[in-house]
Amino acid sequence: MSRRQLDWPDTEVGRLARKAVDAFVEAQRIDDRIVPADFSGKDVLATELDCCPPELARDEDTLLRLFSAAGRNAVENRAARFMAFFPTRGLPAGSLAAMLAAGYNRPTGAPDYAPHLVRMEHSLMRWLCELFALPGGSIGTMTSGTSMSTLIAVAAAADTLPDVTSRADATVYVTEQTHHCVAKALRVAGFPATALREVPMTPDWGMDAAAARRMVAADRAAGRLPFLLVGTAGTTANGAIDALGELADLADDEDLWFHVDGAYGGFFQLTERGGRRLAGIGRADSIALDPPKTLFLPFGTGVLLVREAAHLHRTFSQRGDYMTDLDDDSLPSYTDLGPELSREYRAAQLWLPLHLHGVAAFRETLDDMLDLAEFAHDDLAGDPALDVGPPPRLATVVFRLADGTDEDNRDLLRRINHDGRTHLSGCVVGGRYFLRMTVLNPATYRSEVEGALAGIHDAVRRRVLTHQRGGGA
Ligand SMILES: Cc1ncc(COP(=O)(O)O)c(C=O)c1O
Repeated sequence: MSRRQLDWPDTEVGRLARKAVDAFVEAQRIDDRIVPADFSGKDVLATELDCCPPELARDEDTLLRLFSAAGRNAVENRAARFMAFFPTRGLPAGSLAAMLAAGYNRPTGAPDYAPHLVRMEHSLMRWLCELFALPGGSIGTMTSGTSMSTLIAVAAAADTLPDVTSRADATVYVTEQTHHCVAKALRVAGFPATALREVPMTPDWGMDAAAARRMVAADRAAGRLPFLLVGTAGTTANGAIDALGELADLADDEDLWFHVDGAYGGFFQLTERGGRRLAGIGRADSIALDPPKTLFLPFGTGVLLVREAAHLHRTFSQRGDYMTDLDDDSLPSYTDLGPELSREYRAAQLWLPLHLHGVAAFRETLDDMLDLAEFAHDDLAGDPALDVGPPPRLATVVFRLADGTDEDNRDLLRRINHDGRTHLSGCVVGGRYFLRMTVLNPATYRSEVEGALAGIHDAVRRRVLTHQRGGGA
């Protein structure tokens, strides 16, 4: 019988893999022009990419070329002066690890097929539980990202309620700056929008713990069921950190599930300053961490740590009759810790970079990012035309024109981003629009920050001059 087209011999795999590796090396080349001049969704490339898969095989070089062109013709989120949202360098070691893991294609929902891969993930999760001083019964699992980690945490917290009907009366405490993935998770878990309680913020944009305490008491008095308190260790807008110790006290006193969204700030626990700022985080019932943000890893990995593994088991343990032969209980069964069964092996993306570079390399880089953000904050605070937000707790600085409307500030952002060398983003805090600058890339040094700051001051000057002349944008 002739060999099927889908059944490649090893020689063919090797030949194509070598070409793919060349394409990978090319993909790692980072342009410093952040938005390509020909960036558009309606070009020749788009027409070529819109076509459906053909009936017969296409030429591999054409396909690799198309793939590279599609990857290249994008916003260069890895550039040293990309400081919008969260800079996502994606360490090459992480991308290589993803490639290796895909090469083996092992399922890791249960430990039976690839126990040593599961062991590697478990060793990482144990290390992280220890980093946050979580107790013996704690456990961690790797997810696809923080939205998924949050969904798992919310589902587990919801199972602390007496029954499903009580969801109608349940209440959850957040601030206006809590990431929207919490609201999304609540909706998916069957809670009405009325479950969300927005707690006022302190002047430094964290949750006002005293106000939260009053709101919980008032809700209880009104017959509602407070059950979940969400603290944030690094808001998306400016990296504000809630008073986690005070929130943990509240959660203890009121018997609430305390979830900490540490997507942004969590890994700063590796640093001395971060550890101080995150004090109390280890008292959480669940902590979400995001390696693509603060371990600089590629997209597609998240971590959820929970204080008591039993809580995840209660929500997610489920067996089908076709699974009776999966019975290795010497290692975690990750399918019992979340909704997935045929789960890709994400831990490789953490394991290889952490072992290859060593933890100190991450700690030092995170420390440098804290310094660079402080430097940027102080520099911007010296510009009389700017109103600068609170000193950074993490690596984000926010600012706006001291004398300008939200639209003026949006225009300022367009001006700063216009030359394609620096890229910032915007956010709204307390109803006001701010520009935000996040320094979170191992390739960003003081010279890149100085370059970005020079561009900002220049755009501010030009904007102020235009304004004084009474002109538009
Ligand atoms: C604080 C915070 N929480 C949660 C998320 C959602 O994470 P993900 O994009 O991995 O789902 C983000 C995202 O960017 C975030 O900044």
